[in-house]
Amino acid sequence: MIKFLDLQKQYKSIKKEIDTKIFEVIEKSAFVGGEYLTSFEEEFASYCDAKYCIGVGNGTDALEIALWSLDLPKGSEVLVPANTFIATSEAVSRNNLKIKFVDCDENYQISPLSIEKNITKETSAIVVVHLYGHPANMDKILPLIKKHNLKLVEDCAQAHGAKYKNKKVGSFGDIATFSFYPGKNLGAYGDGGAIITNNQELANKCRMYANHGRSSKYGHEFEGVNSRLDSIQAVVLSVKLKYLDNWIKRRQEVANLYLDKLEKIENISLPKVNKDTQPVWHLFVIKVKNRDSLKEKLQKEGIQSGIHYPTALPKLKAYEYLFDEEYLSYKACNEDSLLLSLPMGEHLENKEIDYVVEVLRKNFI
Ligand SMILES: Cc1ncc(COP(=O)(O)O)c(C=O)c1O
Repeated sequence: MIKFLDLQKQYKSIKKEIDTKIFEVIEKSAFVGGEYLTSFEEEFASYCDAKYCIGVGNGTDALEIALWSLDLPKGSEVLVPANTFIATSEAVSRNNLKIKFVDCDENYQISPLSIEKNITKETSAIVVVHLYGHPANMDKILPLIKKHNLKLVEDCAQAHGAKYKNKKVGSFGDIATFSFYPGKNLGAYGDGGAIITNNQELANKCRMYANHGRSSKYGHEFEGVNSRLDSIQAVVLSVKLKYLDNWIKRRQEVANLYLDKLEKIENISLPKVNKDTQPVWHLFVIKVKNRDSLKEKLQKEGIQSGIHYPTALPKLKAYEYLFDEEYLSYKACNEDSLLLSLPMGEHLENKEIDYVVEVLRKNFI
């Protein structure tokens, strides 16, 4: 079986270090807060070239808390890409703000043209998602942010370590968020997330909000939430962070092999690497017309694959209330060409990639 993702293989490769650190936390009963969390927060801030990092319970909370910290006008509009995971838009509604979906470009990233078209007097912020590990087009987005005096949140849940013009994602906006869900490029052994920023005031607000609005043990300046990255997750992430760049390098090699070997197959549309970007290939997403039957054939030949995402957000039942005719024409909603995610990760060996390519070729030529 060619696995879509192989967390067991990854664990085996770092088992000794992981086990030692987890038992250290248990032996010290240092489960919540304290030195292990602080160390990881410092290491991750440094990895992202950010001043501050706040560990939180998951990537969804990270988005909600980050948006909350910006103190946007109640009921104002926040632009969100149509092609992402629902967590991105949920965070907007949970802050009593209005979701406005924007279209994606040919590479399924948020489209600067669509952003421009959708900005109104009511718009207060944009949540940019560096989807599939590809940096969004910041050169086109940043001038719009400046021109319209908007706030920028970067959802980096799928893009730890990705670079745009040699600068890490998460350093372009006011604040950025990460998910450490186990399947992410940097994944915990449970849920986890983080917020990064260079703005001390925002960092302090987020830290307090994520911890019941606390300024001292029983001093609460305001009501917040309980959203913490626990110490067991923090040590797992500290160990894995040391390997992340090597894992990313292997993902880039795997992507280059796919790109090279699949190039000549006519009916497969391949992901593009935009100029000045260093994607981290959280997912390798191709576009094909016969997606569902192809997925079944791959499964029969022992190859796992995924779909990210089967339904664009504006078409979900959850967003029926936002219905807008124009959403039906959005690229992410266009069901002519369908997205299929091939196995991707540092676990893949060259001969496994060759096998995936061979099976795809057999189905198209
Ligand atoms: C783009 C994006 N944003 C946010 C999230 C939410 O992260 P979490 O699952 O850690 O809450 C995810 C996770 O799937 C994601 O892919």
